[in-house]
Amino acid sequence: MPSTVSTILAQTTSPMTPADFWLPIGASQQAAGVDLTFTIINWICYFFFALIVAMMAVFVLKYRGKPGARFRNDAPTHNTVLELSWTIIPLILSIGMFWYGFKGYVDLSTPPKNSFDVNVTAFKWGWQFKYPNGAQSDNLVVPASRPVRLTMRANDVLHCCFIPAFRVKKDIVPGRYTTLWFQCDHPTGLEEANGYHLFCAEYCGTGHSNMNRRVLVLPQAEFDAWMTKQAAWLDEIPDADLYFKAGPKIYARCQQCHSLDGTTGLAPSWQGLWERVSNPTSAARFADGKGYSDLIGAGKEFATPQDYLRDAIYNPGHHLVAPFGNVMPTFKGQINDRGIDALIGMMQHLDEFDAKGAWKKAPPATAK
Ligand code: CUA
Repeated sequence: MPSTVSTILAQTTSPMTPADFWLPIGASQQAAGVDLTFTIINWICYFFFALIVAMMAVFVLKYRGKPGARFRNDAPTHNTVLELSWTIIPLILSIGMFWYGFKGYVDLSTPPKNSFDVNVTAFKWGWQFKYPNGAQSDNLVVPASRPVRLTMRANDVLHCCFIPAFRVKKDIVPGRYTTLWFQCDHPTGLEEANGYHLFCAEYCGTGHSNMNRRVLVLPQAEFDAWMTKQAAWLDEIPDADLYFKAGPKIYARCQQCHSLDGTTGLAPSWQGLWERVSNPTSAARFADGKGYSDLIGAGKEFATPQDYLRDAIYNPGHHLVAPFGNVMPTFKGQINDRGIDALIGMMQHLDEFDAKGAWKKAPPATAK
């Protein structure tokens, strides 16, 4: 067994460790060191728990009050050897634990220079992962067998990035960047079910439990191909197919709050949304009492319903639909114009989608 955390971190490939009673599978280079530290501390705790409880039981029996025993007040008040040993032994143990923990913390906080960078944005309630070539994804996709550094920021409240299989976890604080790094040597492929879990581990509101994603690990060459394809995915789809090929993928980011079946929780349902915004007599009202017809139309703030919807996605707090709160983050810089077109197209053809946003209708014969 390697002797220190840093020896373990210096290994070029790390074995995958199976899940046990305490820990899930370990699939990163950091896992072995974290697990070793955890296991040592755990066994120290077992040892002292057993020792203390056993001695307590022995003393309770041995010195119990027997019938007719006289009351004694001649107990020793001081024993230097005993007192020094119960001070010095725990001191050495806790310094050891501190040292292992501190060393591990420093290693976990110092991404290697050749790290691959991914920008992470956490928001209520989802994640966005951005890659150096401009590609974006909903699950975290990373290259295998090289260090990956996540630079993370929060759009709204505290979140926390937790990848149990990699033994890494870091808070994401509004107004400040935090970083986290790992190296995983065990590719998963792009199949979502095979990926490692990624959770938000900071209670951040109603949709907190929706912030679970997967980490998908690809061999470097496959990763490069994926990243190139991912950056251009919207451009490769013909305009006429955009709403059913791209719409559902982008809608996956909206569905935590916007249903398609009329259910309203935190936000208006998309059911009937296109009819509401394109019909001047719609009864829907904004928080300021205005209706859609006051905002949308020739000579008004938005010439077309599309202009209004685009603004509602980029500046969600601008016009709030009653009675919903100002909780939506902006998607400016995250969903581009083609993405907006895809979403609006989806709103216009909602009858072609099931309640979960899957497209169910064959493309019309005229589609290119
Ligand atoms: Cu984000 Cu919990």
